[in-house]
Amino acid sequence: MQNPYLPYPVRIEDIITETEDKNLKTFKLVFLDPEDEKKFNYRAGQFAELSIAGKGEIPIGIASSPTEKGYIMFTVNKVGLVTSHLHNMKPGDIMGVRGPLGNWYPWDVMEGKNIVIIGGGFAFTTLRSSVVYMLDPANRPKFKDIHVIYGARSPGMLLYRDELAQWETRDDIHMHITVDATDDPDWPYNVGFVPTVTDDKAPAGDADTYAIVCGPPIMIKFTQPVLDKRAYAHDHIIMSLEMRMKCGIGICGRCNIGKEYVCKDGPVFTLDQLNRMPKEY
Ligand SMILES: Cc1cc2nc3c(=O)[nH]c(=O)nc-3n(C[C@H](O)[C@H](O)[C@H](O)COP(=O)(O)OP(=O)(O)OC[C@H]3O[C@@H](n4cnc5c(N)ncnc54)[C@H](O)[C@@H]3O)c2cc1C
Ligand code: FES
Repeated sequence: MQNPYLPYPVRIEDIITETEDKNLKTFKLVFLDPEDEKKFNYRAGQFAELSIAGKGEIPIGIASSPTEKGYIMFTVNKVGLVTSHLHNMKPGDIMGVRGPLGNWYPWDVMEGKNIVIIGGGFAFTTLRSSVVYMLDPANRPKFKDIHVIYGARSPGMLLYRDELAQWETRDDIHMHITVDATDDPDWPYNVGFVPTVTDDKAPAGDADTYAIVCGPPIMIKFTQPVLDKRAYAHDHIIMSLEMRMKCGIGICGRCNIGKEYVCKDGPVFTLDQLNRMPKEY
């Protein structure tokens, strides 16, 4: 059996600076051994541990979709030690990826349903993976209406801007991009906070509609009552938690909430499950 702590070696193929403050970069990584790519068989919603030799290891959501072949992608916010080292790396540099880890959005359960993606700030990473996955020609017929509500502080803080613009032109996805504020008189999308746009644009909740919600705590706090008002059942609201982690495989006990290990039993939980867990997240 392979050592679960051993990362796959990968080469940085490309680095894209996503936001105007330059604190968010997307890293496109290629497996040195193509056999490793086959073993790294992931679903949208999972994460991996990214490692830099001698510097450390960090859990990061997988931003690419399993339908995108030949590379994997991660979007990383520069906040501290390891993320700063990563931001200083260059295309061609070698690093490690361990995973895929954790559970994923419940794709089997959500087949045949309406999907409402609600994201804020840089938590849009695994939501990008989800949208790309659902829009793949082989998968799009499996879902009914797809809505995407995505907000950032300003236009320059939105991730994946070229892709968002491309999705806007499609008629098989309802895009509701928003910013908290902008000076741009030609800004073509919404201005307002994610909960307000959710109230305006999200379809009403019913047995056929699931919401996947990822964002900063303040966004979650104000979006949840809106979804309640719009009659979303708590087992139809899916969230992803970001806890401090170490092993990522349910061994070290660093990430547990009550008896649940966020790294192994999560990071994806329904709001119904979270309601029954101690409020430690
Ligand atoms: C399942 C999961 C998915 C994640 N996905 C992403 C992602 O897609 N993109 C992204 O940029 N970040 C993501 N994070 C957060 C990321 O893991 C941390 O920002 C990172 O570990 C910080 O490492 P550092 O060495 O640079 O920071 P440190 O030097 O260790 O700390 C700097 C600051 O970051 C905070 N911090 C450290 N570790 C974490 C952590 N695990 N979660 C939250 N805050 C932390 C510290 O409290 C401190 O304020 C994810 C975390 C988890 C658990
Ligand atoms: S990070 Fe070790 S048990 Fe979850």
